[in-house]
Amino acid sequence: MKKIDRPTVQKILAAADIVEVVSDFVTLRRRGANYIGLCPFHNERTPSFSVSKSKGICKCFSCGKGGSPVNFLMELENMTYQEALRYLAKKYNIEIQEHEMTEAERIEQTERESMLAVNQMAMEHFSQNLYDMADGRNIGMAYFRERGISDEMVKRFKLGYALETNDDLYSAALSKGFKEEFLIKTGLCNRNERGKIYDRFRGRVIYPVFSISGKVVAFGGRTLRSDKTMAKYVNSPESLIYSKRRELYGLSNAKQAIVRADRCILVEGYMDVISMHQSGVENVVASSGTSLTSEQVRLIHRFTDNITVIYDADPAGIKASLRSIDMLLLEGMKVKVLSLPQGEDPDSYAQSHSASEVEEYLNTNEIDFIRFKVNTLLKGAENDPLKRAGVINDIVKSISLVSDPVERNVYITECSQLLNVDDKVVSLQVNKLGQEHALRLRREEQVANGMEQIERDEKTAPATENLQQTESTQATNPVIPEMPLNNQAAAEQKDAGFLQPFERELIRLVLKYGMVKLADQIDEQNNTSWPVTVYEYINDELTEDNITFTNAIYKLAMNEVGSLFSNNWTEDKNARQTQIATEIEIERQRGIEKIRKEATNLGMIEAQEKELALQLNQRIAEKETEFAVNYVERILASSPNDQLRRLTTDLVSDRYVLSKVHTKYSKVATELDRLNEIVPRAIYELKAAIIDCEINSIRARIKADTDIEHIASLMAQINELNAIKREFARYLGERIIFPR
Ligand code: CTP
Ligand code: MN
Repeated sequence: MKKIDRPTVQKILAAADIVEVVSDFVTLRRRGANYIGLCPFHNERTPSFSVSKSKGICKCFSCGKGGSPVNFLMELENMTYQEALRYLAKKYNIEIQEHEMTEAERIEQTERESMLAVNQMAMEHFSQNLYDMADGRNIGMAYFRERGISDEMVKRFKLGYALETNDDLYSAALSKGFKEEFLIKTGLCNRNERGKIYDRFRGRVIYPVFSISGKVVAFGGRTLRSDKTMAKYVNSPESLIYSKRRELYGLSNAKQAIVRADRCILVEGYMDVISMHQSGVENVVASSGTSLTSEQVRLIHRFTDNITVIYDADPAGIKASLRSIDMLLLEGMKVKVLSLPQGEDPDSYAQSHSASEVEEYLNTNEIDFIRFKVNTLLKGAENDPLKRAGVINDIVKSISLVSDPVERNVYITECSQLLNVDDKVVSLQVNKLGQEHALRLRREEQVANGMEQIERDEKTAPATENLQQTESTQATNPVIPEMPLNNQAAAEQKDAGFLQPFERELIRLVLKYGMVKLADQIDEQNNTSWPVTVYEYINDELTEDNITFTNAIYKLAMNEVGSLFSNNWTEDKNARQTQIATEIEIERQRGIEKIRKEATNLGMIEAQEKELALQLNQRIAEKETEFAVNYVERILASSPNDQLRRLTTDLVSDRYVLSKVHTKYSKVATELDRLNEIVPRAIYELKAAIIDCEINSIRARIKADTDIEHIASLMAQINELNAIKREFARYLGERIIFPR
């Protein structure tokens, strides 16, 4: 799926009304300035889900979920950002301008798609082996049966079997027309030193790993031998489509159940997830034997705040869950821990107990992380004061990671009770650590910001140079860029000075008249037309020829105006129009009243009212134009960016405005009135200047050349460039229908 381009994203975000979006899922009632309803993220009987139309956000005061329209959809419907945008675009009839992908993006996209397709094929192949091949049935399926896995689970988790042979998958894939390249890139096949290609998974049962949206991104293959020299699991390698630290086994099957239960259960392995599902507990995911990463926690956090970590009661299991706890707390999760009876893992427990026993065990044996830490860390050392102090410190450190103050207090109380210490002492210590922690975070942030600032300064510094250079060196520094209409070359050659007066004139027009309607653009095919602003016109003309300003600060200004145009302009304009209409309407009422009072006959009333209407319509037009004229300059002149602010105030101040000089002599020619000739001319002049640069460079080469044929071809190039220049002039003339 292609990415949606930025202006469209902004349009979508601006159009999305939180009340309308939420109303499609939740019945809302008005309460004061806000709306309220039953929270869709958890089960409740009294409404605590509140929607603020003015702020554009929703939030559940009970479970804390909510956010912008996009957030809401992402959480509730498990959509990705792009999917949520597309949903909204559809709802608000916004046409999506697909963003042109770069070559690299396109290649990456097709590569991803090809890899996913290969994986899908492999999954089907492994599954077919399991059902249709003798070895698949006799070895693979027999193994699942022996482990007590039902047919339904085999289907649900798309389990499979890889035959013992070296190239079963490889040859099947090739015969189906899949490319070797992607078999290698997904890691389904490997090439050995002798160049021979063989399957990665051989003689193993296969657990496909699904992404959150249900695509097969990897496989785990378990050996069926008890041979200890053989790796128990072989897994797909990291690839473009698979990053181990960003996936959780079972999440795509569990996400709905996680939302329903408002809790996620974390186990270790494939079999744990599958057996738990089989016993009816479906809100389970596995970290697949590695320690949990913050990326994985964030995936879970999209669905719930609550996590229960189930661990094996052996030392390794305890260690692993201790490691996860602080990270989970830091990510804002509410952590519970559940230990299983000695010697059991979730798989064995679920297999040997009824579904209701499993449920019951879960509900009664969950403990919060403090109790867990006390139980495990203090075991056997209850009377050792040193050890006790160490445990207290450890727990205090964990509590200090909890950012919610209410929750933190609950933990402080619990800690002090369990360890029999004064809660003021615990609280003091927690706060101290919390402050240190906050300080560290802030320092890190400052360092990061500092770096950014430095980077920014580095980026904008040359711009200041250019700005100053423009005035002083433009005449003495002739320019010879390499390519016509790609002034980047000129910028790189530091000869941009030649182009800058032309760029300066264009950016001046953008800053001073950016939102003013310049003309109507017509679409001849559909016989329609629409208004084009000065900014749009200039921007279209430049992008069409791939021109960006060589001066960095002009470029920045152009981008700023662009984002104003796509983010704020329409809404602000509409708001102002409504305001103007209201003002004028009041005047109209007054005027009409006055006319009717004073007039002596009907004809007079009619004539005067007609005159009034004309006057007021003109006033409306004037006020709207005034707003448009002032819009960009008013905002950019108070930009937080020093350079932008200076540029704006410099360029829009009157000394640059020739028209003011003209108005002294004749009242016709204000610049505003002549924009439809000034703007195209300014564009033409920049383009012509870029071409002149190229012509100059060719002339220089002609001078240095002695080969007659060379020279002839260079001359021909010059003729061609001149022809392009003429073409521009003609083209510009054609594209505009002058409004007056
Ligand atoms: N794991 C792995 N590679 C290994 C061992 C383990 O990738 N060599 C991962 C697997 O995702 C596995 C999880 O760690 O599911 C837990 O390991 P373990 O408990 O050893 O395996 P189980 O899944 O419980 O497998 P089984 O019950 O079939 O022995
Ligand atoms: Mn196991």
